[in-house]
Amino acid sequence: MQEVQKFISDNKDRFLNELMDLLKIPSVSADPRYKEDVAKTATAVSESLSKAGCDMVRIYPTEGHPIVYGEHMINPDLPTVLVYGHYDVQPPDPLDLWDSPPFEPVIRKTDKHPQGAIFARGSCDDKGQMYMHVKAFEAMIRTNALPCNVKFMIEGEEEIGSGNLGTFCKQYSEMLSCDVVLISDTSIISNDTPSITVGLRGLSYVEVEVTGPNKDLHSGVYGGAVANPAQVLCDMIASLKDESKHITIPGFYDDVAIVSGEDRKAMNQAPFDKDEYMKSLGIEETMGEKGYTILEQTSIRPTLEVNGIWGGYIGEGAKTVLPSKAFAKISMRLVPNQQSDKITQLFKKHFESIAPAGVKVVVRPHHGGEAAVTPSDTPEYRAAAMAMKEAFGKDPIPVRGGGSIPIVALFEEVLNVKTVLMGFGLDSDDIHSPNEHYGLFNYYKGIETIPYFYKYYTQLKK
Ligand code: BES
Ligand code: MN
Ligand code: MN
Repeated sequence: MQEVQKFISDNKDRFLNELMDLLKIPSVSADPRYKEDVAKTATAVSESLSKAGCDMVRIYPTEGHPIVYGEHMINPDLPTVLVYGHYDVQPPDPLDLWDSPPFEPVIRKTDKHPQGAIFARGSCDDKGQMYMHVKAFEAMIRTNALPCNVKFMIEGEEEIGSGNLGTFCKQYSEMLSCDVVLISDTSIISNDTPSITVGLRGLSYVEVEVTGPNKDLHSGVYGGAVANPAQVLCDMIASLKDESKHITIPGFYDDVAIVSGEDRKAMNQAPFDKDEYMKSLGIEETMGEKGYTILEQTSIRPTLEVNGIWGGYIGEGAKTVLPSKAFAKISMRLVPNQQSDKITQLFKKHFESIAPAGVKVVVRPHHGGEAAVTPSDTPEYRAAAMAMKEAFGKDPIPVRGGGSIPIVALFEEVLNVKTVLMGFGLDSDDIHSPNEHYGLFNYYKGIETIPYFYKYYTQLKK
């Protein structure tokens, strides 16, 4: 192990420069204008896997963006770790809120990252975290320290719902067969409080369209008598939560898994400073479901959020108009036992039923995904905990996360394996936001921790 760690520290600068190069390619999966760049990134990832020491690397085209697969099999009797990650990134908009261009990575110091952080779209989510695995693998190969078989599946559609990955996993289930899936695409509590994510929320995402009059109208001539779809939409959305911030869609909570008082007590032991939380967000109070702590509201409870809302005149100055249409994009984060498709149907039925006379409502479902819980009494969890203990000098805390990685539930269904979510980002790294960044400490700590995971996992599985 000492040799692996020495190789890592001897190659720090190169590891960083290679990541910077990868961050320069704008692999925005949501926007068709970047299709070529997404493909270029897949090629770059596949080349990095070959160079690191994979003996079989392939790019699999899909109906959307390609999937990169690589493997290094040393002995079929040894355990196999499947590393999953994504090389696609979120759109960088709004561009004018970035302090430096999103695809020109630069290193700057921040309060949370006194050693510096790489500022670029995808630095933390997930190119930086994915690339730690490629470099840790390279270090193990070069020092003859790889103790088991490794497979890599790096996709290019995570940020748009992994629409083609399910089919791929089913089609290539034999090639992908493994003992555990290892993912770094989540966060730790802080740089001196390591944690392992043991749950992810599911997702149901819809777009709604409210239509009133058959054209935009003069808001003076017609206003007062004709339903204004922008206002109707606001009323309808407002009615989706009551004063306790409980969601009012009938049946919404029917399947919600109830977390025991004991488990809730345990999860609230995790360090959390509400004042610091509010200060970092520039808010004076939080707003969430009554009866639950912030940690619970953002992990074990489902929720509903408006992600975008538009309609009418939004240009310069004032225009007096009663719009014909208004729209919103609404997401619901789901918890174990809730089913994404069922929740989407419940939303659709309810939203259509509350439309007042005078408007028409259309609900269009987008992608979705199921929640996942990853148990902490397995060899893979223990190996991850031991690895983090070794690298950070502290036992990690198990934490249920609020985000979603829909493919995790699918791995369990299709490949019949559990996942370990050993992420190294911070919640404050501004993923999906302007000025996304990833700490150098976190990048190197991840590369350092991963070989320990392989070591302990192989020991525990023998
Ligand atoms: N890496 C995130 C998920 C995440 C972030 C989990 C932080 C836990 C902590 C992932 O790339 C992501 O953004 N997922 C999407 C879902 C997807 C279907 C668009 C999400 O959570 O919004
Ligand atoms: Mn991600
Ligand atoms: Mn993401």
